[in-house]
Amino acid sequence: MMLKSRVTRIERQTPTVVTLFFNWDQKVLPGQFIMVWAPGIGEVPMSLSHTGDEKAITIKSYGPTTEAIIKIREGDYIFFRGPYGKPFTSTENKKLMIGGGSGMASLRPLVDNNSYGLISARTRDEILFSSLFSSNRLKIMTDDGSAGRKGYPVDALKEMDLSPFHIIYVCGPEVMLNSVFQYLKDSGLNVEFSLERNMKCGIGVCDSCSISGFQLCRDGPVFSLSTLREMEEFGRWKLTESGKRVKVGT
Ligand code: FES
Repeated sequence: MMLKSRVTRIERQTPTVVTLFFNWDQKVLPGQFIMVWAPGIGEVPMSLSHTGDEKAITIKSYGPTTEAIIKIREGDYIFFRGPYGKPFTSTENKKLMIGGGSGMASLRPLVDNNSYGLISARTRDEILFSSLFSSNRLKIMTDDGSAGRKGYPVDALKEMDLSPFHIIYVCGPEVMLNSVFQYLKDSGLNVEFSLERNMKCGIGVCDSCSISGFQLCRDGPVFSLSTLREMEEFGRWKLTESGKRVKVGT
């Protein structure tokens, strides 16, 4: 069922990313997503960046649908359906959040005073939600070295003692997810990854989000390390909007 709500306020996070707040009296858990509809253009899956009484999506434009959604103004309607998908396992214990680019949006609702952040982005302007972490609990990596250290999350992970973390959450571009996965896959640590794929129905019918026999919308988008080990296509292949199988990262 398509729902609608007026956008109550808008926060600009970075030059290219905004957060749209709206009221929705519905329990939503961190990691779950909604399908947001731009009338006449299309729908996109979006994780919620705020899951309390006030809900929000944090969005960057990367195509016609997101371009239309990012133009929504305060007081305008946002159209959506959901919530869908399996959430992250939440805990009050010590946790590490590894967020790449706008992937930090779906990790944001999990941040509490026992959270550590490893945030990465291509450049300084794309670092998202770093102010939620105190500086002694935060590492920043950028591809170009314009903020934090130059390099990738896995470079920082190699220098960290990960044993104190009860759980590690990872969300970001699949190339980054895969490098973290490759580094941690035999670690025996408790790690959850939030994946992204094209989605159409969001409810397990169309199969556009399938990956190695799993459907992201129904079985994910959050998967454990052990489930990822079963996904031969993870980090390698994905389907385009038209259903063509292409290499991840192309
Ligand atoms: S989006 Fe249709 S099956 Fe997942």
